[in-house]
Amino acid sequence: MSKTIAVIRGDGIGPEITNASLRVLDAMECGLHYDFVDAGLSAQEKHGELLPAATIDAITKHRVALKGPLTTPIGGGFSSLNVELRKRFDLYANVRPAITFPGTKARYDGIDIITVRENTEGAYGAEGQTLSADGEVALSQIRVTHRGSERIVRYAFELARRSGRRKVTVVHKANIMKTTSGLFLKVAREVAQEYPEIVCNEMIVDNTCMQLVMNPMQFDVIVTTNLFGDIISDLCAGLVGGLGLAPGANIGSEAAIFEAVHGSAPDIAGKGIANPCALLLGACQMLGHLGMEDQAARLRNAIRDVLSRKDRVTPDLGGNGSTDLFADALIESLRGH
Ligand code: NAI
Ligand code: MG
Repeated sequence: MSKTIAVIRGDGIGPEITNASLRVLDAMECGLHYDFVDAGLSAQEKHGELLPAATIDAITKHRVALKGPLTTPIGGGFSSLNVELRKRFDLYANVRPAITFPGTKARYDGIDIITVRENTEGAYGAEGQTLSADGEVALSQIRVTHRGSERIVRYAFELARRSGRRKVTVVHKANIMKTTSGLFLKVAREVAQEYPEIVCNEMIVDNTCMQLVMNPMQFDVIVTTNLFGDIISDLCAGLVGGLGLAPGANIGSEAAIFEAVHGSAPDIAGKGIANPCALLLGACQMLGHLGMEDQAARLRNAIRDVLSRKDRVTPDLGGNGSTDLFADALIESLRGH
């Protein structure tokens, strides 16, 4: 197939890990073409704008983007460019897989958990307010809707169905937050009825955190509201060895943006030692989204191969390799398969 995607190289280590990732994708010959656009600090420097219209247009047109980390300067008019992109394209599903790879600092072997986090409402909708003049009382709101809950839970069940997964765990706090988390749970129960072949279980969020640390193998797909999903997906990333291995997809009905969870790492930018693995795992999610599940599996297998080679992996994973050595080793491994 032939498909053009928007590519945002991003800031800091962004260009290094993006270029390495594109070299790997090119070696796979899966028919991808790139429309390079800018966002973040680099866009500000080149075009005088943090989020140029050409970038929005390219994502709108191609519907799929691979994105390096962005630096959002303070006082630039956005509190976060990533949040802005999610809002702009209504990217309601934040999908974060956590998989154990051998040779990493994973706490357990064999973890394979996908967290599906609601990305547009919950505790992240409103700015909140300070109630008293002395600034001693503050209030923020949590907003949960039937529509928002239904589409995210349905997304999780559809994902489970299409990828042959057996269980969806609905994570909530409906025992205390009876209205908001209660609504989410009620809707989840309704949607689950439509997927009789998939086990649906419910778990309170604090217990989920403990269970994830003590017995992560019981989890398959997790679906939850915005704030709980934020925390749980980072917990899962920690279980499998940290941010260097954590990709994320932001998916809506009109567009999808694939990225690494980590930031622009200014402390190591330009040194050639940034780990491209999280972005490459984001590229795996993208290939799956584009219907190239076999290519995604091929790339994941190559990553699995190379991660156990200390002479190739980057220092954050305990190796003495570099961004380019890692990418080269992946390309060799891909050619061998
Ligand atoms: P960060 O994730 O950039 O860095 C935290 C630590 O992890 C640093 O020591 C860094 O060197 C290391 N690290 C991160 N990614 C790495 C990689 N691929 N390979 C090796 N080491 C890696 O978080 P920080 O320092 O809080 O944020 C820096 C900038 O990134 C900020 O401007 C922030 O706003 C932005 N950011 C952007 C995100 C995005 O675009 N998705 C997400 C998080 C932060
Ligand atoms: Mg987070």
